[in-house]
Amino acid sequence: MNVLITGSKGQLGNELRVITEKKVQDKFFFEDIDTLDITSDSAVDNYFAEHNIGAVINGAAYTAVDKAESDTVNAYKVNESGVRVLSKTCCKYNAFMLHISTDYVFDGNAATPYTESAATNPQSVYGMSKLAGERAMIESGVNGAIVRTSWLYSSFGNNFVKTMLRLAKNCEVSTDSAAIKVVNDQTGSPTYAADLADVLLRLLAQQYVQKCNVQNGVEIYHYANSGYCSWAEFAAEIMRLSRSLCRVLPITTAEYPTLAARPKYSVLDTSKIKTALGVEIPVWQNALERMLGR
Ligand SMILES: NC(=O)c1ccc[n+]([C@@H]2O[C@H](COP(=O)([O-])OP(=O)(O)OC[C@H]3O[C@@H](n4cnc5c(N)ncnc54)[C@H](OP(=O)(O)O)[C@@H]3O)[C@@H](O)[C@H]2O)c1
Repeated sequence: MNVLITGSKGQLGNELRVITEKKVQDKFFFEDIDTLDITSDSAVDNYFAEHNIGAVINGAAYTAVDKAESDTVNAYKVNESGVRVLSKTCCKYNAFMLHISTDYVFDGNAATPYTESAATNPQSVYGMSKLAGERAMIESGVNGAIVRTSWLYSSFGNNFVKTMLRLAKNCEVSTDSAAIKVVNDQTGSPTYAADLADVLLRLLAQQYVQKCNVQNGVEIYHYANSGYCSWAEFAAEIMRLSRSLCRVLPITTAEYPTLAARPKYSVLDTSKIKTALGVEIPVWQNALERMLGR
């Protein structure tokens, strides 16, 4: 089967490229906005026809959470309209679609992990645009799956882990205070994009076979590394594993205001995907250690 990976220069896209290098049964096509803009109906349609695409993993997204608050049109263009274009084209060519969404579709007021059927209530433009994308995909009637994930990081691209490593370097050379301040009242599950990539390919293999001849719509799954922490605890583990002398000073969200509101608690219940695939999910500390050791 020919599988299109969109947003291939992003964190997830790069991890999918690494992991698919050893897969020989399927042929993978990697494209980013410079070669295939998912918001262009005609470009996407031509691409499917030319390359005989049988499945898509949509790694393309507008992910600048704070910028999205003022850049609403572009956030919706990619996260809603782009997903609609891909879904409609998948329907036309009878292709399977795997799409990635976010814990930011939830408001964060829960005290126990969010299941796939929990009520959504995004608090930011980014979260709202991603939820609009989920709805566009479901309404299209495409065969596929949405995987919501959280706090994604990788050795590719920009993310919290790389920011902490960079700050740690500066902090160690500073003379006055060898510490960085990190928010301690938001709880979630850091997720290594390489682990997500692995599960997406398993899901694609399983669901594609099950669904290729039946029209049964979109299934939602949650995937994140096991366990949870605050951003400050995550930062402290990054310092420990990278043997940094830099200390982490826990602060509150109120002390570190951002343009977009983040959920206070966004731990995802991952039982459904574990049962569906028969997999155990690595704990976040183990995943972080693998990323840092790469
Ligand atoms: N990062 C997180 O913490 C996080 C958490 C939960 C869920 N997610 C979701 O996980 C998925 C993967 O995230 P990621 O962190 O890998 O994202 P990423 O690193 O920002 O990569 C997204 C890629 O998509 C590209 N892109 C943007 N607009 C496009 C368009 N119109 N057509 C084609 N490509 C386009 C981006 O290019 P430019 O860089 O040039 O814009 C970028 O290369 C996304 O759906 C995201 O919403 C992410």
